Amino acid sequence: MFKILRKRELAPDIYLFEVEAPRVAKTANPGQFVIVRAYDKGERIPLTIADYDKRTGSVTIVIQALGASTRVICSFEEGDSFVDFAGPLGQPSDFIHFDPDKINGKRFLFVAGGVGAAPIYPQLKYLKERGAVLDVIIGARSKELLILLDEIREKVDNLYVATNDGSFGYKGFVTCVLEELISKGNQYDQVIAIGPMVMMKSVAESTKKYSIPTIVSLNTLMIDGTGMCGACRVTVNGKIRFTCVDGPEFNAHEVDFDEAMLRLNMYRSEEQKRLVDIERKHHKCKIGRTM
Ligand SMILES: Cc1cc2nc3c(=O)[nH]c(=O)nc-3n(C[C@H](O)[C@H](O)[C@H](O)COP(=O)(O)OP(=O)(O)OC[C@H]3O[C@@H](n4cnc5c(N)ncnc54)[C@H](O)[C@@H]3O)c2cc1C
Ligand code: FES
Repeated sequence: MFKILRKRELAPDIYLFEVEAPRVAKTANPGQFVIVRAYDKGERIPLTIADYDKRTGSVTIVIQALGASTRVICSFEEGDSFVDFAGPLGQPSDFIHFDPDKINGKRFLFVAGGVGAAPIYPQLKYLKERGAVLDVIIGARSKELLILLDEIREKVDNLYVATNDGSFGYKGFVTCVLEELISKGNQYDQVIAIGPMVMMKSVAESTKKYSIPTIVSLNTLMIDGTGMCGACRVTVNGKIRFTCVDGPEFNAHEVDFDEAMLRLNMYRSEEQKRLVDIERKHHKCKIGRTM
């Protein structure tokens, strides 16, 4: 069992959990993820590692309550436990194989949308410790949905914030800020984008025009997380790859985003039906009716 040591609400329906998982913490690297199960018959949910502490043996995840399983997890409190917390899974970010001298002075631009602000944190930490120059653009629908701004600001050289409704920072999409930074003459050795698939697609289109190497972390559907079931299949550079074992990070300019988005939406209606079923099951009618 994997005990929740700390729970923090970051925004409506978005929670940070620090979990006791010493074996995962010991071998975790930036870019990797875990697959968690809340209870015995629960679904397996992939979540990016948002931080880890090898000394205390804790791993941080940030989770947005979207569907049935993530809502159950978000209802967990400090002291509760996950039955499974498997990881670290997937390949670490490519830059962990770079010579530290090659990172020193290199200029990275991170583009993070929504909960994508959480997985960039261990990457920023790793690169900052090795002398990289870090610019970050964070976007969300509105001010109340922006997460981890203070923690990220501490690690970076320049932080830019965009909200769709203009309630904080730049009014518009993160890609508008990206285009503005590049057109003003900012030069980047690498862009890393993490967020909704459509945002990553749009970042990839922008950076391709300027030939800036770009990495995305794909949040495909996953079932077994072992490369066996095929649920997380994506096409990269015309070849079939599995996000769980070959990714989750890929060269953004080689990903077939249209196919990836189609596959992500494949089960949407079934998921919505399941959510209604679960809500019905847990609903306690205050006027005494049964469903
Ligand atoms: C490698 C990886 C890392 C991830 N990291 C995080 C993370 O750090 N924090 C986090 O909150 N989520 C993360 N996700 C997404 C998370 O796994 C899904 O949101 C979750 O599985 C949804 O489960 P559910 O049963 O609650 O919702 P479901 O009922 O399965 O889905 C609810 C709604 O969310 C949509 N949805 C389902 N799966 C995804 C997905 N993978 N991406 C986007 N939308 C989806 C569905 O279309 C549906 O509309 C990650 C996914 C992957 C593959
Ligand atoms: S989740 Fe089954 S192959 Fe990747």
